[in-house]
Amino acid sequence: MTLSTRDLGYWYTNNPDDYLFKNVNLTFEKGKVYSILGQSGSGKTTFLSLLAGLDAPKAGAILLEDKDISKSGLITYRKSSVSTIFQACNLLTYMSARQNVVTALEIAGKPINQADIEQLFTQVGIDSSQIDKPVLKLSGGQQQRVAIVRALATGHDIIIADEPTGNLDEETTQDIVSIFKKIAHEQHKTVIIVTHETAVAQETDVTFELKKKVFTQIS
Ligand SMILES: Nc1ncnc2c1ncn2[C@@H]1O[C@H](COP(=O)(O)OP(=O)(O)O)[C@@H](O)[C@H]1O
Ligand SMILES: [Mg+2]
Repeated sequence: MTLSTRDLGYWYTNNPDDYLFKNVNLTFEKGKVYSILGQSGSGKTTFLSLLAGLDAPKAGAILLEDKDISKSGLITYRKSSVSTIFQACNLLTYMSARQNVVTALEIAGKPINQADIEQLFTQVGIDSSQIDKPVLKLSGGQQQRVAIVRALATGHDIIIADEPTGNLDEETTQDIVSIFKKIAHEQHKTVIIVTHETAVAQETDVTFELKKKVFTQIS
């Protein structure tokens, strides 16, 4: 699934001159990890929320395989194609890791296969003794892994993550980035991560920097 932006623009006021970015034309292909690098306040989260179908563009469009996602509706797009991971994880802390994933699948109306779920946990390095503990008892890095499993469980082709390593130490950051690379390279997903950390961006296949309202591919 190729995701792309066509002359994409966004601004929060009624005045288009206040744009955060405009005329953005980027392409995201399956099998690769992309990073969006930029300073705080540059508009990264806003850009991701458009890619994730959480908000509609002020100008231009998001295309999935050349089809405008707003044509079939953003809800359809979110339910069928894209999974989002937020910096604050947004896990239900009183539930176990497993329950978080099962609940997300129930909400999405997807089938629940416990063996598949357990395999995903193994894949991200959460061992079986941790799956049924309340997520509050897990470390920040482990919670981020649970959020990744939750995003993967739906089987969607596009995984979007906002500052997924923002609160983690260097080693855990490395692990999380490796997991994203594995997901993209071995499962042929499109992974797009937003970061303000150059070191994280350097690990990804393609980096687009958002600076002074303009996106530039820097690697
Ligand atoms: N809901 C909103 N209403 C008005 N301005 C907003 C809103 N959300 C973000 N902004 C502003 O838009 C700019 C970009 O924000 P954001 O996309 O969150 O940047 P980043 O994720 O790169 O830190 C910031 O100046 C921020 O204050
Ligand atoms: Mg942000």
